[in-house]
Amino acid sequence: MSIKILAIESSCDDTSAAVIIDDNICSNVVSTQEIHEKYGGVVPEAASRQHQISILPVIKAALDKAEISKKELDAIAFTRGPGLLGSLIVGVSFAKSMAMSLNIPIIEVHHMKAHVLAHFIEKPAPQLPFLCLTVSGGHTQIVKVNEDLSMDILGKTLDDAAGEAFDKTGKMIGLPYPAGPHIDKAAKLGEAKFDFPEPKVPGLDFSFSGLKTAILYFLRDRMKEDPQFIVNNINDICASVQSRIISILMNKLKKAAKQSGISEISIAGGVSANSGLRDELTKAGKELGWNTYIPKFEYCTDNAAMIAMAAHFKYQKGEFAGQDITPAARLPF
Ligand code: KG4
Ligand code: ZN
Repeated sequence: MSIKILAIESSCDDTSAAVIIDDNICSNVVSTQEIHEKYGGVVPEAASRQHQISILPVIKAALDKAEISKKELDAIAFTRGPGLLGSLIVGVSFAKSMAMSLNIPIIEVHHMKAHVLAHFIEKPAPQLPFLCLTVSGGHTQIVKVNEDLSMDILGKTLDDAAGEAFDKTGKMIGLPYPAGPHIDKAAKLGEAKFDFPEPKVPGLDFSFSGLKTAILYFLRDRMKEDPQFIVNNINDICASVQSRIISILMNKLKKAAKQSGISEISIAGGVSANSGLRDELTKAGKELGWNTYIPKFEYCTDNAAMIAMAAHFKYQKGEFAGQDITPAARLPF
C-alpha cells in the first residue's frame, strides 16, 4: 500500500504545502508573501498573519493537485524550525490539529536538513556519502550526508549567511527584497571589475560580514566622487559582489571535497538558485571530476516538497512526533 503524506512549510515568508506518495512528489504549492518587499526585509508579525490567511487555500490546492482527499492521508509533516517563531507556529499548529482530527501521526522536520534532502526528489540522487553546500537567507553550511542519512556540519558561517550578503548588498544599492534574484539578473549584464576582498577564515567556516562592510565603504567613497555611481554601474557592482560571494563559497567547498575525499557534491537552499553559483559548480565538477547535483529551481528556495521528502524518510523509520511538540526558532542540527 502506498504511503501518502501532506507536508507543510511555514518557517519564513513562503506558505507551502506538498503531497508525497511513497517517494514521489505529487504536488508542491508555494504562496510567496509580497508584503515584505516594501519594507526591504521580512516583517515577522506580517509574515505570521499572512501564513494564517494562506495556509488553508494552499493546503487545499496541494491536495487537489495530487488528486487525493484528506481522508486518504497517512501522516502530516511540518517544519518545526529553525525559522521565525510566529510563522512556524501557524504551520505546526495547523498540522497538529489536522492530524488530530484525522487521527493520523505527525512528523517534525528540520528545515535545513530538508533543504539537503531536496536532492532525493529527482533522479539521479547523489550517492551516499555526499557533500552539500547549503546556502539560504539564514544559513550557510557545508554538510556531509552519511550512509544512514545522518548529517555532520563540516563548516558554517561565523556571521552573516550568503543569502544575507546578497540581500544586504541589494538594500545598499536600492534593489527590492529579496535581492538575490535581482543581483543574479543584473550580474549577467555586468562585468566583475570591482575587487572586493576574500576573508581569511580558517578551516571550512565562512564569513560574510567583512565583505558587507567593504561594499558599504566602497559605495560610500564612490558616491562621494559621483552621486550617480550606483545607478550608472549597477550591473558591474552586482557582477563583482556576486562573483566574490561565489568564490568564497566555492573555495571552501573545494577544500571540503579535498579533505573528505568525497566527489559527490551538491548545493541546496535559496542561494543555490543563483545562476553564477550553478555554473561555477558545474565548471568545478568538470575540472575536478566531481559528480554535481543542483536541485530544480523550485526545490532550491523554500518549499514543502523538501519537507515531504524528509518526512518520507522519517515515516519509513517510524520517527513520529507527539502532540506536545512545539515549534523552535532555533533548532540544533
Ligand atoms: O532557502 P530560502 O528560500 O529561505 C531561507 O530559508 O532563508 O533562501 C532565501 C535566500 C534569500 O536571501 C534570497 O535572496 C536568496 O535565497 N536567493 C538568491 C537567489 N534566489 C534566492 N540568491 C542569489 N541568487 C538567486 N538567484
Ligand atoms: Zn530555507
